[in-house]
Amino acid sequence: MAIAGSPAVAPPPLLSGAGPRQVAMSLPHRPAGPLTGFDGAERLARPGLVTTALQLAARAPSWPGMTSPSHRCWDLMAASDAFEAWVIAWPPGGAIELHDHGGSAGAVVVAAGKLLETSVVDQTSGGVALQTTAIAVGRHISFGGRHVHDIVNAGETPAISVHVYAPRLTSMTYYRFTDGVLHARDTIHGQLATAVA
Ligand SMILES: [Fe+2]
Repeated sequence: MAIAGSPAVAPPPLLSGAGPRQVAMSLPHRPAGPLTGFDGAERLARPGLVTTALQLAARAPSWPGMTSPSHRCWDLMAASDAFEAWVIAWPPGGAIELHDHGGSAGAVVVAAGKLLETSVVDQTSGGVALQTTAIAVGRHISFGGRHVHDIVNAGETPAISVHVYAPRLTSMTYYRFTDGVLHARDTIHGQLATAVA
């Protein structure tokens, strides 16, 4: 099925939605490098990512395996050489810890329920702090390649979200935030990330 509208990225075929994926985190952990900067072309892609995520969000609640999740689960909805789109189901309390997206820009649309995003933001003093934003159904966030965040379903009902990334995810680094300092922990490498969010 083609995606309606005119996304800024080439519309891919929707995948079959064969069911949610639960992939063990078996890839090797490697030392994380520093966050890197990105040019303006990457930022220009963000409106197209939001448009694509909003279009796919209409299909997300009926995607196989996404209702009544007992744990956080996900499936690839669409992909091309340029980007990929995931649907994720979040039970109450479902969460992913602080992470980046390996340099990919992204957009997240909530298709059901409500999610809380906590992101790492620069302070004028030169340090970093945490900032939490509620994302209600139908709302979205978008971010560039340096974005670090966590996401949790703090509500009492399941939530469903669509996540679009460009370029496609190749790695994710996890962090801990201690005493105002962001510490890189582990990096997962792979074309299809094993812990999407
Ligand atoms: Fe994320």
